[in-house]
Formats: sequence, structure tokens, C-alpha cells
Amino acid sequence: MRRAKITIVGAGNVGATCAHWCAAAELGDIVLLDIPQAEDMPKGKALDLMQASPIMGFDSHIVGTTSYDDARESDVIVVTAGIARKPGMSRDDLLGTNAKIVGSVAEHIKQSSPNAIVIVVSNPLDAMVQRALQVTGFPPCRVIGQAGVLDTARYRTFLAMELGVSVEDISALLMGGHGDTMVPMPSCTSVGGIPVLQLIDAKRLEEIVDRTRKGGAEIVSLLKTGSAYYAPAAAVTQMVEAIVRDKKRLIPCAAYCDKEYGVGGYYVGVPVILGSGGVEKIVELKLTESEQAGFQHSVNAVKELVAAMEKLV
Ligand code: NAI
Ligand code: 2OP
Repeated sequence: MRRAKITIVGAGNVGATCAHWCAAAELGDIVLLDIPQAEDMPKGKALDLMQASPIMGFDSHIVGTTSYDDARESDVIVVTAGIARKPGMSRDDLLGTNAKIVGSVAEHIKQSSPNAIVIVVSNPLDAMVQRALQVTGFPPCRVIGQAGVLDTARYRTFLAMELGVSVEDISALLMGGHGDTMVPMPSCTSVGGIPVLQLIDAKRLEEIVDRTRKGGAEIVSLLKTGSAYYAPAAAVTQMVEAIVRDKKRLIPCAAYCDKEYGVGGYYVGVPVILGSGGVEKIVELKLTESEQAGFQHSVNAVKELVAAMEKLV
């Protein structure tokens, strides 16, 4: 049986770490692609990773390249191409530069892998995934953004740290855009099956949510030279696995919502079922009044971002 072909565009911090974890989990053969100006860098990273395989015991084949010829007929393409934040920058400061980069990457994807499922990671995420949809013209179920798995993982980590319990026992959901307007869903957060508000009071929970909202900036301020990549790459790997192993995971992703939640044709973080067809279903929850207000606020922020992007491309 043919192994899945996974192309990762952008061989920087997130891209190379994704390649590492997708290979270690034997999710398929991997193409790590960067711009010609990167010269042999993607080849070097790919070869280095291949040389880890006898020690770590994985059989994925990893190729580094600057040519889309090597990416032809990929099953899954992860787009991490673009610039990352430096201290003092917001995700939205990346808008103009990354919209052009993601647009050109999407044009190549359309030509070389017309049947691929595309996972966009580049920031500002909710606008970049919309750009990838516009340029590829793929069905929206095959163009997905990564944000919710990461944001929820940060939230779960902070909750586990607060309660001194295993991260495995925290089940949680965040919705909305990948930014300061993300919406926590306390009604969907539990610890070993116990509703979170029975274990943490509302004020403390709000502080934890606030830290989650600023989770990306916290890492930027510590690293000083770029943004987070281990947890983002782990989040992408979970999405790739759901697709190539048709796992039907119910996880939050940036999905194209039209009638769903009354969004009207924008990408926003919602729970979806992710499998070999991409987003196979958007799960519509009954939101409380305050959750609905928070969600609408977040959708409005996404709409503004997309409008700003459209003036720049
Ligand atoms: P990085 O700077 O380490 O790597 C970016 C790579 O993209 C570089 O190697 C660069 O040469 C390459 N690149 C630029 N233009 C390209 C093009 N046209 N085609 C192919 N490759 C191209 O940055 P890092 O840390 O890997 O972050 C990548 C992006 O992902 C940033 O926009 C960052 O903000 C975003 N990000 C998003 C997250 C999310 O949750 N959605 C989480 C973490 C990062
Ligand atoms: C993050 O949340 C930079 O969006 C990236 O870490």
C-alpha cells in the first residue's frame, strides 16, 4: 500500500519540528520544502532527520527540497511558510507579508497537488487559511487551519498545572479565532469527568483563560527570536494523523463556517470531525448567551482581519 505523502512548506522551526514528529509517528513519507534562497537548508534538515531514524526506529522517508516537483500529488500539505512574530509584534503585524507568501504557496499547491488536504499554520491564522481557500479554490473541507488544538492544549496544560493532575485527565474546548478573542467553553471543560467549575472558581478560571489567550505572546517574550514551535508542531501532527489514519477525531480546528453558527463564510475555530475527507462535519453546539456573545466578538475580529488582508493582496 502506498504511504501517505505529506509535504511541509516552510522548513523553519514549526515546519522542521512537524517533519520530525510526523516521521517519528510514521504518518507517511515527508517532503520538507522551502524557498530557493534557503539553498540546501531543507536538504540538510531532512538528511539529519533521516539519520535519526535508525536510532528512533521509524521508517518514514524524508526529502528536503526547494522544488514543488518533489511535492507533486501530496495527500496532505502543511503550510508553515512565512515570517513569525518577534517581541512586541502581534500576529496581525504579519498580515501583508504572509498573505503574499501564503497566496503564492497556495498557487503552487493548486498546480502540483490538486487533491491534497491543506493545513494552514502561518499567521495571522484565520486570515491565512481564508487566503489559501481563495487561491486554491479547493472545497472548504480540504482547507483547514491549525489553531484550536494548540490553544486547547495550552489551556489543558495550565489547568493541569493548577490542579496538580495529569494533562490526560483534562478535557477542554476553546472556540473562535486564534488570538486574543478566543472563547473558552467552561461547559465543555472537565477534569476526570468533573465539571471544571467544581474544582476551580470562576475568577481563577478566567485568569487561566487569560494566560491561554496570551499563550503565544508568553513564548515569544521568552524566546525573543521567534515564536512557539514544539506545541504548534505537535498540534499539526495530531491533525495530520487524524487525516492519514482516518481517525474521525473530534477536535477544534479553524474550519470554513457559512451557515454553521451563522458565521457567513469565514474561518473560525469550531469543533469538527477530522478524517480522511478533511473536515467531515462541523459540530454545532448550543452556546450559552455569554459564549455566543464571545464567539460573535471573535467572528467580528476575524472578519475585520480578512477585510484588512483583502486590501493588501
Ligand atoms: P520560521 O521563520 O522558523 O520558518 C518559516 C520558514 O518559511 C522559513 O524557513 C522561510 O524561509 C520559509 N518561507 C518563507 N516564504 C516561503 C515560501 N514562499 N515558500 C516556502 N517557504 C517559505 O517560522 P516558524 O516559527 O516556523 O513559524 C512559521 C509561521 O507559523 C509563522 O507565520 C508563525 O506565526 C506561524 N505559527 C502559527 C501557529 C498557529 O498556531 N497557527 C503556531 C506557531 C507559528
Ligand atoms: C502561537 O500561538 C505564534 O500563533 C503562534 O504561538
